Amino acid sequence: MAITKTKAPAFHITGEVGWINDPNGLIYYNGQYHAFFQHHPYDTKWGPMHWGHVVSEDLTNWKYLPNALTPGGDGDKNGCFSGSAIVYDGRLWLLYTGFTENQGGDSIRQLQCLAESSDGITFKKHGIVIGEDDLPEGYSPSDFRDPKVWRHGGLFWCIVAARKLDGRGRILLYKSADLFKWEFVGDLLGKDSAGIMIECPDYSEEDGYLLFCEQFQPSENGLHLNVHTCRFAIGKIDYSRGVFKEESRGIVDYGFDVYAPQTFAGKPVMMGWLNMWDRNIPSEKYGFAGMLTVPRAVSVRDGRLYQEPIVNSTEVYKTEVSERLEDRVKVGVITVVATSLEALTLKLRSGGDSFTSLTLCGNEWVLDRSKSGEAIVGVEKDEDSLKGIRRMPFSGKSAVTLTVVMDEFSVEIFEDGNSLTSTIYPPEGADSLELTVKAEGCVYRRADVTLKA
Ligand code: FRU
Repeated sequence: MAITKTKAPAFHITGEVGWINDPNGLIYYNGQYHAFFQHHPYDTKWGPMHWGHVVSEDLTNWKYLPNALTPGGDGDKNGCFSGSAIVYDGRLWLLYTGFTENQGGDSIRQLQCLAESSDGITFKKHGIVIGEDDLPEGYSPSDFRDPKVWRHGGLFWCIVAARKLDGRGRILLYKSADLFKWEFVGDLLGKDSAGIMIECPDYSEEDGYLLFCEQFQPSENGLHLNVHTCRFAIGKIDYSRGVFKEESRGIVDYGFDVYAPQTFAGKPVMMGWLNMWDRNIPSEKYGFAGMLTVPRAVSVRDGRLYQEPIVNSTEVYKTEVSERLEDRVKVGVITVVATSLEALTLKLRSGGDSFTSLTLCGNEWVLDRSKSGEAIVGVEKDEDSLKGIRRMPFSGKSAVTLTVVMDEFSVEIFEDGNSLTSTIYPPEGADSLELTVKAEGCVYRRADVTLKA
């Protein structure tokens, strides 16, 4: 099917046309940041997965390269699923999941494949390197995917999401001396996940955190309302025992639309899929579906994952706000710095009957996208989800910095290291902004994203 892209976000990664989901193989190689992503270039729906590929020097301006992986090879006949990258011996290596559908159901195979490149553009496939025989007994080769690779203590290590035949999601640890031959080491968490399956595990040895997503799971008394949830767990792997020593855990994002967050190999910079499974994506009519979040600097503070957006931008407007301020902005970075904050409402992308609002309500920020524009309908049936609401804790600090990264189809809201991310599909011309605030002092700043022609 021939499709063309008629509208696009200004600086968020999408496919050149068609569908994208998870970020894959995020890495710095030969002087550029490389981001790959799950991609179906021939339709705006998920299909046979390719690895799309973009590169950047500043993490804001991205350039398309040819697709890095195309399904059809030995072990990846029906799709090149998610995975990661590592630089070794001057070359760029991709470890990813080869998907073979066979007759469906239990005959599906998801096994780990290797590819290499010496120019970072064209890749040579080596086929399956972690196969069915490398799974410990009792695990399903039909749900075994999304390897994350790194180096530690002179060896390669990788974690892969798996499912017990009589249970739920697990994360398995493997080691290798050469990237080709892998040995099972341990079941990292040692117990079933709450969701039916785990996806896209990620680990930072330097900063000590594990990221993973769970599919279809209870909301844990409203702690997370998305049925597919991304978690962080702070702690470190005990390599000798093959277990993760967890200190604390939480959710990666409080909004509607982050999935499969991954960090750049060896760098504390994370990106996620800025969408969610099991929802309609109104941008299909513009020839694309799916975006990636802005890159985020991540660190561990007070036992949680702390995120700050990385956007190459230039300040264009700064003013003190006594009570109320009006502005116009569709694409840009808004920062509100307030002291002794008592009340705040930010109305974004407003025009006609449409707007998106963020309101400070007691000890939480409340995002309302019910009037944002085109309706997004998901499988969640709780009251907040049906009303287009998501909530994020408010730090309550005496000096507050609120940052909102805005693009055509998204808002990413940050306060005290927490993030709340959502897609929105406003009508043309909905670009008014209104800030009302009650605080001892408040400064509003708007920055333009620095885009190359
Ligand atoms: C997560 C996921 C992965 C899989 C990929 C397929 O969003 O389901 O587990 O590798 O997407 O596109």
